Amino acid sequence: MTKTVALLVGSLRKDSINRRLAKALEKLAEGKLTFTEVNIGALPHYNEDLWENVPASVTELKQTVEAADAVLVVTPEYNRSFPGVIKNAMDWASRPYGKNSWSGKPAAATGTSGGAIASAVAQSHLKSELLNQNMVVMHQPEAYVQWKEEAFAADGSITDESIRKFLQAYVDAFARFVEKHG
Ligand code: FNR
Repeated sequence: MTKTVALLVGSLRKDSINRRLAKALEKLAEGKLTFTEVNIGALPHYNEDLWENVPASVTELKQTVEAADAVLVVTPEYNRSFPGVIKNAMDWASRPYGKNSWSGKPAAATGTSGGAIASAVAQSHLKSELLNQNMVVMHQPEAYVQWKEEAFAADGSITDESIRKFLQAYVDAFARFVEKHG
């Protein structure tokens, strides 16, 4: 049976290469994992007062995470860390106190950028945050993907064979990790 994954993409722009990477991973995971992307762009900035009348986007985030077997975050690097939209989502679903939706979920972080370090620092910071939320984090294998436009087709397929094999191995390892810890 396929396991379900709540997907967070750390970029809100429509042509995001991180969303394209997420789509490619989703395609490689077919038959093993099914992804549901959470619309983290719809979340307001964290504000404790909003719990009096909980925003629909917060309810959707918490329900999607709680219903999922695992969490995958695909993130760009912003100024040597992960973007604030991800931290905001982490904060929302960690509350109310004692009702942390992330706790105990198997999780992985990956990401891409055009630069040579390919989101490595962002992923490192993000993994600390996932651990802080009491998630069970897959540390190996890691996937730091330097974006090559010609390697990723619009339909989510990967045309570069070595990148496809590398990411297939990554997805397969995550599926096994979710099976073991989910
Ligand atoms: C960046 N970018 C970037 N890249 C990187 O390798 N290290 C970094 O520290 C940063 N810092 C950074 C800050 C801000 C505010 C922006 C907007 C961008 C470049 C970034 O990785 C690139 O724009 C990616 O294409 C963003 O991913 P999406 O939006 O295409 O998914």
